[in-house]
Amino acid sequence: MAGMEQPRLHASLLSWYDGNARRLPWRALAGETPDPYHVWLSEVMLQQTTVNAVVPYFNRFIGRWPTVADLARANQDQVLHAWQGLGYYARARNLLKCARLVAGDMGGGFPGDADELEKLPGIGPYTAAAIAAIAYGQRRAPVDGNLTRVLARLYAITDPLPGARRRIATLAEALMPTERPGDFAQGLMDLGAALCRPRRPACEACPWREFCAAKRAENPQSYPRRQTKGAKPIRRGIVFWAVRQDGAVLLRRRPETGLLGGMMEFSSTGWRQTAWTLEEARRMAPVAASWRRLPGVVHHTFTHFHLRLAVIRGRTTDSSPADGFWSAVEKLPDHALPTVMKKVARHATSYPEAGKKAIRRKKSGP
Ligand code: ADE
Repeated sequence: MAGMEQPRLHASLLSWYDGNARRLPWRALAGETPDPYHVWLSEVMLQQTTVNAVVPYFNRFIGRWPTVADLARANQDQVLHAWQGLGYYARARNLLKCARLVAGDMGGGFPGDADELEKLPGIGPYTAAAIAAIAYGQRRAPVDGNLTRVLARLYAITDPLPGARRRIATLAEALMPTERPGDFAQGLMDLGAALCRPRRPACEACPWREFCAAKRAENPQSYPRRQTKGAKPIRRGIVFWAVRQDGAVLLRRRPETGLLGGMMEFSSTGWRQTAWTLEEARRMAPVAASWRRLPGVVHHTFTHFHLRLAVIRGRTTDSSPADGFWSAVEKLPDHALPTVMKKVARHATSYPEAGKKAIRRKKSGP
């Protein structure tokens, strides 16, 4: 979407919100300042519970405990009792823990920053973003199911969920306005609930009808796309199990962002859908060695794809690779190895090297 359209997206949604916002007891009316205690309490209650179910609970809580300090003085049984019917009692226990921290150590004020909010009990990334935007006017996007659907349609995002979540969150953050981000976020929530419904969206009444890519293509209902179960793609890679003369093996750190960000791994080719030939892999080896393919394949499933890794093993005298470091096999548990790499290590160490008898494996062939 062109950046130039953003001001029009902001203005049209905010003006729709001004005329159509649901009247909810935790919402500040135009010109009023939202009470962070109300915003926090409502957002915690709204985790996994609908707006209609929350309203009477919210009113009862506020009637009984008008400030966070009042709530902090309640005992756990009173809070659990008042929470009865909202479900997920860990949320009620965390609510009280959080109230006591805020009323105590924090002097009665909630932090205004999403990263600080997220450190409090019972506040995850969504709730932290919601409180930061609604109560403190921060440009943070609380991306729930409603926002995901609205954005997937606005931009006609064809990547399926759950894979597209990160992209949608990035687009949502970029779309947040500097002025009235809290109303904008709540406008998106209300738009998703009232008009941009999962089925039979009311596009004709939508303030974004002229901007919406899915509406233009007349298929808003087909967004967001979802990965069908069992249809995850299969990606393949070849891992280098490089062994130094003293028996140490080669590790490297994955990039900080993205899948398994910052965790350790054994070097490998990329992970792609088409199979790799041994020749291709040998050209990408991190150290010089005579590489031999081990029998069998390591299988692992991530949220968005199945991974099949073949392992090739090589002994090397080349002890200073450009990328990575060496670890004794016994020290591997000291490193942050993700499950898939633990599987690789188990696989590679289950085949004795030349001269020793190999263990037979059931699975073979990628
Ligand atoms: N769902 C979660 N937070 C909400 C809010 N502030 N308004 C409406 N629906 C919500």
